[in-house]
Amino acid sequence: MKMSFSLDLLLRDNIKRLVPYSSARDEFKGEASVLLDANENAFGSPYSKNYNRYPDPLQRRIKEKLYRIKGVPSENIFLGNGSDEAIDILFRAFCEPGRDNVILVPPTYGMYEVSANINNVLYKKVNLTHDYQLDLDGIAEAIDTYTKLIFICSPNNPTGNSIRRQDIETILVNFDGIVVIDEAYINFSKQPSFTKDLEEFPNLVILQTLSKAWGLAALRLGMAFAGKEIITVFNKIKPPYNINQATQDVVLEALEGVDIVNEWIKEVVEEREKLSVSLQMLSQVAHVTPSDANFILVKLEEPRELYNFLVSNGIIVRDRSKVELCEGCLRLTVGTPKENRMLLENIRAFYAVV
Ligand SMILES: Cc1ncc(COP(=O)(O)O)c(C=O)c1O
Repeated sequence: MKMSFSLDLLLRDNIKRLVPYSSARDEFKGEASVLLDANENAFGSPYSKNYNRYPDPLQRRIKEKLYRIKGVPSENIFLGNGSDEAIDILFRAFCEPGRDNVILVPPTYGMYEVSANINNVLYKKVNLTHDYQLDLDGIAEAIDTYTKLIFICSPNNPTGNSIRRQDIETILVNFDGIVVIDEAYINFSKQPSFTKDLEEFPNLVILQTLSKAWGLAALRLGMAFAGKEIITVFNKIKPPYNINQATQDVVLEALEGVDIVNEWIKEVVEEREKLSVSLQMLSQVAHVTPSDANFILVKLEEPRELYNFLVSNGIIVRDRSKVELCEGCLRLTVGTPKENRMLLENIRAFYAVV
């Protein structure tokens, strides 16, 4: 149990003082037949469906459905225009540019660093260990009085492995700032989500997304789960109507598809394991990192040449061979069985394996 957490001490002063924008839909929430409060076009939209009214700023119906799926109450959910919006808001809420800092644990998702740079916030890098786990001593040494956020991605992108739960808990208990656990790939993992632990850790912010297992990347819907007070801060900072009505409509319907999503997850995990075994059988493959995600990091001979060969045959993977601790590696997203077969055939053809 964490005792010394104080949101007030962590927030930037301008955010503490901020009076949020009060939209027309904030000020009137009931049913009405004549809406003349938001300067909308009362005639309709030049489209088969009407989008002339501003959407619900707090996306209440989606949050109710998410509560049923994930067991996280609405008051603990923030919805953003992709998880990237939530990442950006974390910097704007907690990090005073040029003074505060955050800790990143590379190799990891690149957006934390980009967001830090956009917000002119310093970051300290504490590399993962060689088995892609947290360097707890290194992190403890890097923390100073101005460290506000630590980003941990689990399962981690681009390595695919989960970070040891015990180590994450050690940080949650000992760090007085915000611990962000990015669970974008949690649906593919055997590890449980941290969503059940929100009450125990007031400094915990969990990120998830509909862009991966849910197959809705184009809609841009990211989720942050946290204590009520942190969610209130997120809602204060976000643009008033950050999730558009078309996205809200489609997401509401798509969230009925839990069964098909669970089928896909099962299939992706099976395909991932098959693909991993087939790759390991190639003598040119030095290492396949055990994955809890929907991609595989594989260290192999001539990665750049193989990458170019695959591109020339219309198959695009991610070249991570120049990334520190991923030297010689390509990151392969698990596709459909047919796509995975094509990928393997092409890799075998490149190495002239018969
Ligand atoms: C770890 C991680 N977090 C977040 C994201 C972005 O998610 P979204 O599409 O919700 O912005 C990605 C996308 O690749 C990711 O790998």
